[in-house]
Amino acid sequence: MTERTDPRGAAASDERRPPQGDDASRGDGAVRSSLPRTGTGSATGKVILFGEHAVVYGQPAIAVPVAALTVQADVTAAADVSTLDSALYTGPIADVPARLRPTAVALDAALAALGTPDAPVFLRIRSDVPAERGVGSSAAVAAAVVGAVADLLGIRLDAERHHELVQVAERAAHGTPSGLDARAVRAPGPIWFRNGAVEPLAVASPLVFVIADTGVPGQTGDAVAAVRAQRVADPDATDRRIATLGGLADAARADLAGGDAASLGRHMTQAHAELGALGVGHPALDALADAALAAGALGAKLTGGGRGGCLIALASDADHAELLARALRDAGAADVWTTTVPAASVDAQPNTSVEKTE
Ligand code: MEV
Repeated sequence: MTERTDPRGAAASDERRPPQGDDASRGDGAVRSSLPRTGTGSATGKVILFGEHAVVYGQPAIAVPVAALTVQADVTAAADVSTLDSALYTGPIADVPARLRPTAVALDAALAALGTPDAPVFLRIRSDVPAERGVGSSAAVAAAVVGAVADLLGIRLDAERHHELVQVAERAAHGTPSGLDARAVRAPGPIWFRNGAVEPLAVASPLVFVIADTGVPGQTGDAVAAVRAQRVADPDATDRRIATLGGLADAARADLAGGDAASLGRHMTQAHAELGALGVGHPALDALADAALAAGALGAKLTGGGRGGCLIALASDADHAELLARALRDAGAADVWTTTVPAASVDAQPNTSVEKTE
């Protein structure tokens, strides 16, 4: 099994586990195809509460793992060619469609880094995390695949090494990833992230969020490129907006620690406007934000790369979340989930929970 990332610090190095029955690695770059065992890995989806895009330029960000949106990967040694079985594609890994290249990259990177390059394997992926919706699908799939390969080979991966391998796939997915998604999909609770460093966040009182999918695919790589282009075209204004988004993350950290949901919500709505001005909004996101605010949301903003994807709205409590979910569906949301972030001190962080709202 993979270990989960502990933002408070990780094991210092990889460790080859004692063989459990057959040892999968022959140490000569091959995986014994006769092995009966399967390596498994898992990760969760995530939502970014504050700091998307600005985090690429060194500003802080806050993200929350969504524990019930999970990806599970199973890897088994195969006889000749590597194949993938997933909801999006089943067939030889050499022929995966472009959108699944990062999955193939994650597999190759893990096999090569762990001493078995080109070993043929059968990779099976099952995922609840919607793809291209800004909720961490690419990072979660990569994290699950890396974990599964390590498990197959009997290696307990150091969290930093696991992170680096996920980042190889994230670079294939969208160019210059900050590392926020890769951290969030393996975090045990809300995280504060800046310049690659991650730490757990205190949450004074529970928070109920409603996540609504516009149904419009969001392309993180294109959105990141659009911000980069805007920064070239208008550096002063763009850098001001990026700094404002960082300031909102700082303010939100204080809101979370102080249990001030009303202030947190206001900061979310401000962040949505700044992200729109940065060029990563979408009319479908604005329509859902308006619907959420009209239904009494404390705040609403896009989450993740934007230009489509998901909106996140803060409810007053669980009953209000149901009302918000209905309002968002009525306003055209393709899918809606309700996520509760429990109160947490930095020393003991339970996972968030999520319920799909029908
Ligand atoms: C994408 O989920 C988050 C972005 O900030 C990109 C990144 O952090 O690499 C848009």
